[in-house]
Amino acid sequence: MKKLIELIEDSVRQAFIASEYDEKYAKVTISNRPDLCEYQCNGAMAAAKVYHKAPIAIAGEIVERLKGNKFFGEIEAVMPGFINMKLSPDFLADYVNQMKEDDKLGCNMAQPPKTIVLDYGGANVAKPLHVGHLRSAIIGESVKRMYRYLGNHVISDVHLGDWGLQMGLIITELQVRQPELVYFDESYTGEYPKEAPFTISELEEIYPCASAKSKEDSEFKERAHEATLRLQKGYPPYRAIWKHILNVSIEDLKKNYDNLNVSFDLWKGESDAEEYIPQMLYLMKEKGLLHESQGAMVVDVKEDSDTKEIPPCIVQKSDGAALYATSDLATLVQRQKDYQPDKVVYFTDKRQEMHFTQVFRVAKKAGIVGEQTELIFNGFGTMNGKGGKPFKTREGGVMRLENLIAEVENAVYELIMKRNQEDIEKKKTMKPVSEEEARKLAKVVGLAAIKYGDLSNQASKDYIFDIDRFSSFDGNTGPYILYNIVRIKSILNRYQENTVMEDTHILPPVSDSEKALMLVLAKYNDVLESAVNEIAPHRICAYIYEMSDTFNRFYQDTKILSCEDGKRQLSYINLISLVKRALEECIELLGFSAPDKM
Ligand code: ARG
Repeated sequence: MKKLIELIEDSVRQAFIASEYDEKYAKVTISNRPDLCEYQCNGAMAAAKVYHKAPIAIAGEIVERLKGNKFFGEIEAVMPGFINMKLSPDFLADYVNQMKEDDKLGCNMAQPPKTIVLDYGGANVAKPLHVGHLRSAIIGESVKRMYRYLGNHVISDVHLGDWGLQMGLIITELQVRQPELVYFDESYTGEYPKEAPFTISELEEIYPCASAKSKEDSEFKERAHEATLRLQKGYPPYRAIWKHILNVSIEDLKKNYDNLNVSFDLWKGESDAEEYIPQMLYLMKEKGLLHESQGAMVVDVKEDSDTKEIPPCIVQKSDGAALYATSDLATLVQRQKDYQPDKVVYFTDKRQEMHFTQVFRVAKKAGIVGEQTELIFNGFGTMNGKGGKPFKTREGGVMRLENLIAEVENAVYELIMKRNQEDIEKKKTMKPVSEEEARKLAKVVGLAAIKYGDLSNQASKDYIFDIDRFSSFDGNTGPYILYNIVRIKSILNRYQENTVMEDTHILPPVSDSEKALMLVLAKYNDVLESAVNEIAPHRICAYIYEMSDTFNRFYQDTKILSCEDGKRQLSYINLISLVKRALEECIELLGFSAPDKM
């Protein structure tokens, strides 16, 4: 569907052209003074200078031409030369009804659909998921859903960190602890056990211990490096241990991502890029890009227009070991071969920006991807604790994701219990909520609190993770949005207790708050399309917050269930179920859902 604002602008443009003014002055915006008008055009002011006329005269001419146009209920020229517009209630209702008939609520599908690879999650095998990986998962998942919503072909890849030094560290530490394992017997030739020699909790203890050791003990560190190299070169017993590490970790990771309602099409990792390294090097050599620097193979990537120094990209270490850039470049070879993507988007902490600048430049120079392929780095800010410092546990350690989720769920649980108690005291309800029910609800609401708390900030900014604020049922929070959806559900249910809900046309609005609600609804396609184009879930959050508030105002000022005019009532019911549909589509895109009661 054409956007509402485009329809209006088209007609304003026709008026400018008919009056022989340049159409560039016909720009229409949503009014920043909703008390005065809904849309405005300020072009007469700029045109006045060029055509040597008073702005108000030009505005007046345009308004004259537009009077009687079906879009406008009111249109006037206001000093010094504004054109203020209010939509006609009929036209607005008509637009909203068209939205209602469309299964994407008036959004235009991507033309043509693009093939997009999304690289998010990025968990490191054998290390526990921590809050740093939370943002990547939450933002990436939402962007996946947004791109898909508009019909693009999207492939999501978790791109595990499964190939680096941490593997060598674990292998080395394992050898210290259990030297008797067959993997460390050089003369062993049999099959390796199917069963892993550790559990996930042991693994999560082994890694930090080995990592700490390597910082103090240089001999240990050397051995870990060697083990990493041997693993990367394919030494069978180390490969066998590595497989165990992968299996045990991935099982645990899947559980964690499931809890977050985050999923991936591909569970590839840095290790999967290995087989593409020769081709990657070949492409670089062929273009004469590789040169040696202090024993390592590097590619220069600086450009004349750089304002800061971009160091050469190291693609291979002197001992032949793969680096972070090696695996990212080789992964692009694989992605190009498998999908020929139009776009590849990466979601990591913005501190990795330099790495991606280097990788993208090498990829383009070496022709790993085509000139047209968009490589996008979506760097996000740090999630801080209340004091403004990176989020930590009370003891000062790195917060594990599981614990963080549990804390939020607890906070929501307490809130649900407290509200229920208050409702009983105020005699709003008789029924105490059961512990089981409240726990179940706290899971759904807690996820909304976490995700909305994150996504409502512009991704590149740092933000403060404030459990109390995020889980509050009032204000700009996930629970507040859910609360409004639940309220609509309950009105619809009560209506349906006595009446069959008919799907009918929504009538033109009769009150300001009803019109305001329709105006917000009518922006749906505009907001969603720009959120997708700008990779900006926070725009969807701002939109549903506005919609919730506007709905609330409408609800306060309208008798819905006790409305005596049956036709009008049915129109209200259809209107609010459209609001519910829009809100639910949006939260689905953000990656959470609403309960039936709250
Ligand atoms: N494993 C990395 C980390 O924890 C993130 C991986 C991001 N993706 C990529 N293709 N480099 O920092």
